[in-house]
Amino acid sequence: MTGKEILETFSTQVNLSDYRKIHWEGSFVDYLDIVLKHPEVTRTAYQRLYDMIIFHGVEEVYENREKIIRYKFFTDFASKYGDAIYGLDRTLMQLVNTFKSAAKGYGTERRVLLLHGPVGSSKSTIARLLKRGLEDYSRRDEGMLFSFAWRGEGDTWHKDPMHAEPLQLIPLEYRAAILQKINEGRENQERQVQIKGELCPYSRYMFNERLQKYGGDWTKMVQNEIKVYRLILSEQDRIGIGTFQPKDEKNQDSTELTGDINYRKIAEYGSDSDPRAFNFDGELNIANRGIVEFIEVLKLDVAFLYDLLGASQEHKIKPKKFAQTDIDEVILGHTNEPEYKRLQNNEFMEALRDRTVKIDVPYVTRLSDEVRIYEKDFNPERVKGKHIAPHTIEIAAMWAVLTRLTPPKHANLTLLQKLKLYNGKTLPGFTEDNVIELKRESADEGMRGISPRYIQDKISNALVAHSDENNINPFMVLHELEAGLRHHALITDQETLQHYRELLQVVREEYEDIVKNEVQRAIAADEEELARLCGNYIDNVRAYTQREKVRNRYTGAYEEPDERLMRSIEEKIDIPESRKDDFRREIMNYIGALSLDGKKFDYKTNERLQKALELKLFEDRKDTIKLNSLVTNVVDKATQEKIDVVKSRLIRNYGYNEESATDVLNFVASIFARGQTRK
Ligand SMILES: Nc1ncnc2c1ncn2[C@@H]1O[C@H](COP(=O)(O)OP(=O)(O)OP(=O)(O)O)[C@@H](O)[C@H]1O
Ligand SMILES: [Mg+2]
Repeated sequence: MTGKEILETFSTQVNLSDYRKIHWEGSFVDYLDIVLKHPEVTRTAYQRLYDMIIFHGVEEVYENREKIIRYKFFTDFASKYGDAIYGLDRTLMQLVNTFKSAAKGYGTERRVLLLHGPVGSSKSTIARLLKRGLEDYSRRDEGMLFSFAWRGEGDTWHKDPMHAEPLQLIPLEYRAAILQKINEGRENQERQVQIKGELCPYSRYMFNERLQKYGGDWTKMVQNEIKVYRLILSEQDRIGIGTFQPKDEKNQDSTELTGDINYRKIAEYGSDSDPRAFNFDGELNIANRGIVEFIEVLKLDVAFLYDLLGASQEHKIKPKKFAQTDIDEVILGHTNEPEYKRLQNNEFMEALRDRTVKIDVPYVTRLSDEVRIYEKDFNPERVKGKHIAPHTIEIAAMWAVLTRLTPPKHANLTLLQKLKLYNGKTLPGFTEDNVIELKRESADEGMRGISPRYIQDKISNALVAHSDENNINPFMVLHELEAGLRHHALITDQETLQHYRELLQVVREEYEDIVKNEVQRAIAADEEELARLCGNYIDNVRAYTQREKVRNRYTGAYEEPDERLMRSIEEKIDIPESRKDDFRREIMNYIGALSLDGKKFDYKTNERLQKALELKLFEDRKDTIKLNSLVTNVVDKATQEKIDVVKSRLIRNYGYNEESATDVLNFVASIFARGQTRK
């Protein structure tokens, strides 16, 4: 392939019609036509942001009997940028509802939105996504918006420095009448075209200067002097998307927010109050029409905070030497919990608190969501050349979640069991109501504990620390997690440290249980045997549910259903006596439905039953494979063959590779050799 060929292949794929659309330019009259046809081009920044999120779609799910709306923007769209947000459905609902009420003008558009949470709880990620989302939306037909430029000398055009909405060019006294025409037929609609705010000092100057030329007829003036163009929001180009990060506290200057005098141009225009000698390029200026993010907003100097409060409350900013200037932008700040706490008793904070909408962004407390956070970065696509042994990420995530949970008041419930309940597992004696109750009694759960960033760092460490190994396994990661604790900046008291260490032991033991279980199932995964056991179980269940007798396969005699056999299988998956009837009926219903379709039941289609059968079979045949013979080095040929079968099942069914399967078999064998079979 040559360079020329590469370019040629792509030249046929470049979408020129998109390019032309995005670079659309026209007259003020053309723009009025667009407004008539697509009134949504004149939306406020909050409306556009809210519509953008809804544009990507929603789905409804139920969790603990509560309806949850899930915005695909934070999952599907976000994952295109490798940034999906998991497990924060309630937080995101609260955030989007705030946007919604701001879009409707109910008052939240006059507040600073403050994302608040422990370090590493995805506050920055959420802000980054909203910015990316707006950029993307502004390039789509659904999200288009426009601004204008002034005719200069020759072929030059001067853009409005704050890329304002072109309708702002309509003088105040004409707006009502024009809007009436524009909104004709839309009187009953919730959203009508509005014109908010006045021109910035620069455009105001241009306007007045040119108006003379047309003898005061602004309609002629805009038709001749104005070019309207499609505005594409872009953080890179500093259009409609701003970010402000306080540097050190001594060194803050309000020009960073509201723009600065251009000294070079003062000479040209003769005065420092000529708006042409001013750069309207502070962060609040350039973010007009879009969104501005304030990183660590509480580190801002007090003087700045007043700028910020004015900007949100009045939608106005005050550039040095100029009158107040209207802005239309979403203002989103974030701060972490320690910083917020530090300022909690500060007098000034009270003023701030009153003018902010605080949204708590906690850590995730559901294990499966926490696992997905790490799978974003640590998956086979991104980690090349290393095998991540099964459960490695799960175990690290489990520990992280455990550190965040408050100990249940329930006497019979361990922290690990609480984690499992939160993760959707059913435990004997606990109902959905108990789970709701548990969550209620620990309302601020997730505001403390280990951050995902710590886990991400330690998994990375484990990946590079063992450069001679082709695998990383839970032990390596647990080791890193433990070693890092000593230097963890945020853990200051011994008690917490001790608690976190104990939890490492809890997950270690849980890991033992998980792999023991897995190896046992792999040993028992003899399909013929399982099918036979399953058939036997189903015969008994059928007889039980229909109150009939079972025909004994050997003697042909009719007997009562074998309760012991059924229970010994069901107990393997924690089905309590009180729920056995439900479980049995469910299975029979399923089999009934299959047979209506002329299909036969296969135990492999029911994951829980399969697990129960495998564990039962393992129990029945415990002595057929001497696991602890593995730890000795001499293995006879027959045993070796059995071991190889088990290994291949581990690889095929559980995601191991050769090496990690060998490791895990050795590990489980050593547990058995220790005789340490905990229940
Ligand atoms: N709920 C979550 N879903 C997806 N990823 C998450 C979640 N929580 C944390 N992360 C991940 O954790 C890492 C840290 O997140 P981020 O930098 O957004 O946190 P932050 O709240 O801004 O932290 P800080 O307060 O330290 O600035 C990122 O890689 C982020 O993707
Ligand atoms: Mg951050």
